[in-house]
Amino acid sequence: MSGWVAIAGLGPGDEALVTPEVRAALDAATDVVGYIPYVARVAPRDGLTLHASDNRVELDRAAHALEMAAAGKRVVVVSSGDPGVFAMASAVFEALEAGPEIWRALDIRVLPGITAMLAAAAKAGAPLGHDFCAINLSDNLKPWALIEKRLRLAAEADFAMAFYNPRSKSRPEGFARALEVLRDACADARPVLFARAVSTPQEDLCIVPLTEARPEMADMRTMVIIGSSLTRVIDTPRGPVLYTPRSA
Ligand SMILES: C[S@@+](CC[C@H](N)C(=O)[O-])C[C@H]1O[C@@H](n2cnc3c(N)ncnc32)[C@H](O)[C@@H]1O
Repeated sequence: MSGWVAIAGLGPGDEALVTPEVRAALDAATDVVGYIPYVARVAPRDGLTLHASDNRVELDRAAHALEMAAAGKRVVVVSSGDPGVFAMASAVFEALEAGPEIWRALDIRVLPGITAMLAAAAKAGAPLGHDFCAINLSDNLKPWALIEKRLRLAAEADFAMAFYNPRSKSRPEGFARALEVLRDACADARPVLFARAVSTPQEDLCIVPLTEARPEMADMRTMVIIGSSLTRVIDTPRGPVLYTPRSA
C-alpha cells in the first residue's frame, strides 16, 4: 500500500516548536485530519485537503485517517503538543485494533511533539527535574474516584505532578476538589505553577503556594504543575525560577 499515516504533534503553539520531522510530514501530506483548532494551525495549500472535526469524534476521525491511507492517501493526524500524550495516537491504534485486518499492513508512524507539560516546565525553570507524574484531571474517560486515588498516592510518593485538562466550563467542580485533596495530602505550602497558553501571544505564568491556589486560576488552556516537597522558588531580578533539585 502506498498510503501512510503520520500521527503528529504540533507542539504547544509556537511555530518554532514544531519539529522539522512534523513539518516534512505536513509538506508531503495529501490529507490532514484533527480537532478543529489544531487543523486550523496547518497552512492550506494546493493538493492538501483539511478535514477538521469536533473533539468528541476521536475514534471516527482515527478510522477515517486509516481508511484514507488504505486508499493510497498520505495522511497526517494532528494533535497539539505530543500525539502520544492524552491525544490522537492512542485513538488511531484503538481504531487499528478494532478495524479490518488490511489496515495492519499500513505504514503508521508517530511523530513526537513538545508536550505542554515540558513547554510549561521550561518556561518556569525545572520543576520536573526529579521524579514526577502526569495526570489528566478530566473525568470524561475515567471515574473521578480514580483521579482522587492517583492524586493521593502521587502525593504520598512525593512526586511532582503535572496536570492536563485541569478545569473546563462543563467540569467546574473537579479542580476545586483536586486542590482540596492536594492540600490535605501534602499539608504544606509547596509551589504550584499555573502556565496558561504557553508559547502563544496569550501566555501567562503564575506561581503561588499551594495554600493560595484557587480553582479559577486554571482553565482548559492551562497546565498546572505542583512541586514535590523539595521543589522551591529562587527569586531573581528577571522573576521567580521554580526548580526541583536532582537529588531527594
Ligand atoms: C487534551 S490535552 C492535549 C495534550 C497535548 N497532546 C500535549 O501533549 O500537550 C489538552 C490540555 O493540554 C494542556 N495544554 C495544551 N496546550 C497548552 C499550552 N499551550 N499551554 C498550557 N497548557 C496547554 C492543557 O492542560 C489542555 O487542557
